[in-house]
Amino acid sequence: MKHVPVLLDSVLNALGDIKGKRIVDCTFGAGGYSRAFLERGAIVTAFDRDPNVQADAEAMRAEYGERFNFIPRAFSAISELEETYDAIVFDLGISSMQIDNPERGFSFRADAALDMRMDTRDNDGCMNAAQLIEKLTVLEIAQILRDYGDVRNAMQLARVIKEKNPRTTFELRDLIRNPKDVAPVFQALRIAVNDEMGEIRRALTAVPERLVCGGMCICVTFHSIEDRIVKNTFKDWTTVPGDPRMPVVANAPFMAIKAVVPTADETENNPRARSAHMRGVVKSC
Ligand SMILES: C[S@@+](CC[C@H](N)C(=O)[O-])C[C@H]1O[C@@H](n2cnc3c(N)ncnc32)[C@H](O)[C@@H]1O
Repeated sequence: MKHVPVLLDSVLNALGDIKGKRIVDCTFGAGGYSRAFLERGAIVTAFDRDPNVQADAEAMRAEYGERFNFIPRAFSAISELEETYDAIVFDLGISSMQIDNPERGFSFRADAALDMRMDTRDNDGCMNAAQLIEKLTVLEIAQILRDYGDVRNAMQLARVIKEKNPRTTFELRDLIRNPKDVAPVFQALRIAVNDEMGEIRRALTAVPERLVCGGMCICVTFHSIEDRIVKNTFKDWTTVPGDPRMPVVANAPFMAIKAVVPTADETENNPRARSAHMRGVVKSC
């Protein structure tokens, strides 16, 4: 299924008039956000670490020429960008193409090798899920299940996983006794395999210096763990250091914009939108 962009109207609404503005789309995916920015006259630099999106990115380059530039790397590489931008946008998580492609190992609904890497190239040293399970201790697996999936009985399940050493999605699925834990276990492993929280933290650290005055950072998140990181980071940025009595003041480095969740209509038309939150901040100078 083609990926339907989530909260795109809210993102466009927050960005306002973007004609001639320079925007970094950190998560190209199916290019839904990038295309909307380009159609409104923006100049776009996009990142994605999934090599499968390369063809779509090349087609976009052919269509929009120098107004579109694609960097096939993890978005934490924004720390290497040497210019400043009017907006830096993240639409986090995985795309419908990734979850729907049975060979990628993201879904417990299809039997496949237990892979779960967004970046399937050999050159970045990222282990797939089966290799990660082999390498980690029971304690480390339990912590991943707890931290990234809120899985109860994480220790017990981690022991079984470590002992049975699953190599396929169905082998892993069949080790999980409580059907309610299946999706959270797959989510937790995916987050660990792709170091998703580390990526967000590193990328956000690089954002303030790469925004112009009045520049905006917008993040769309899909689960509470990544949303907490974004929320707390933005809270730090909108707070004057050393004055906890004044959480949001005019001379803080950033001003928050109102958080948005999808409407009932959007959720009905696009179930992926269900848990989404959009948060944003504007750099004040
Ligand atoms: C939710 S999709 C983005 C969809 C896109 N906004 C659209 O409208 O088509 C997330 C994409 O971000 C990519 N991604 C996730 N984390 C990444 C990271 N740390 N670095 C680069 N790309 C990442 C995934 O490979 C996936 O293609």
